[in-house]
Amino acid sequence: MPGADLVTPRLRLRRWRPDDLEPFAALNADPEVMEHFPSMLSREETAAAVSRVEKHFEDRGYGFWAVEAPGQAPFIGFIGLLVPAFEASFTPCVEIGWRLARSWWGKGLATEGARAALAYGFERLGLDEIVSFTVPSNVRSRRVMEKLGMRYSEDFAHPRIDSKHPLCRHVLYRLSRAEWASARP
Ligand SMILES: CC(C)(COP(=O)(O)OP(=O)(O)OC[C@H]1O[C@@H](n2cnc3c(N)ncnc32)[C@H](O)[C@@H]1OP(=O)(O)O)[C@@H](O)C(=O)NCCC(=O)NCCS
Repeated sequence: MPGADLVTPRLRLRRWRPDDLEPFAALNADPEVMEHFPSMLSREETAAAVSRVEKHFEDRGYGFWAVEAPGQAPFIGFIGLLVPAFEASFTPCVEIGWRLARSWWGKGLATEGARAALAYGFERLGLDEIVSFTVPSNVRSRRVMEKLGMRYSEDFAHPRIDSKHPLCRHVLYRLSRAEWASARP
């Protein structure tokens, strides 16, 4: 069923709930979490972001899922699939993305949740390719992409970021369904 929860050994990827707003706003106000973004997000910007994600779920049946660590924390961040709203040489496309609260980093959780999201994208949605992108200096995120079997494709200038801004340049990674299928354990 589109929009159903994705369950992994340590995580539940689910639709957003009103209670998620508070911890998501705290995460978006953490300078360490937001180091690779042009700015942190206010509570209002966080609420607007959740509304956009919910609209994406309504329109397409999938999106950035809220992530829960069952028995430990009701909300630790998001992981999921999204159609970027901007235009670039590689769009239209489906991207995989992630953002977790600092205290949950370094345990393999982003990779674990992302594997479930990739399986959903390729098996359930029948996608041919999933991409991911970040700034070159975001080594943690790039490492997650590599662990997922994604390969570096190209650099690009993010069209939503001023071309003179130091975070404008991005790296694009790609994973085709065939690559994903052949790399599965
Ligand atoms: C990116 C992010 C989701 C990773 O979450 P995570 O659960 O810690 O990821 P994982 O544990 O699955 O993998 C992280 C990998 O980065 C590696 N890593 C961590 N710090 C690193 C560093 N300074 N240099 C190189 N590698 C590093 C880890 O060792 C691990 O790789 P390994 O399993 O080979 O050891 C998390 O750091 C985050 O939320 N960052 C802020 C938001 C963000 O930047 N999102 C992406 C925007 S495109």
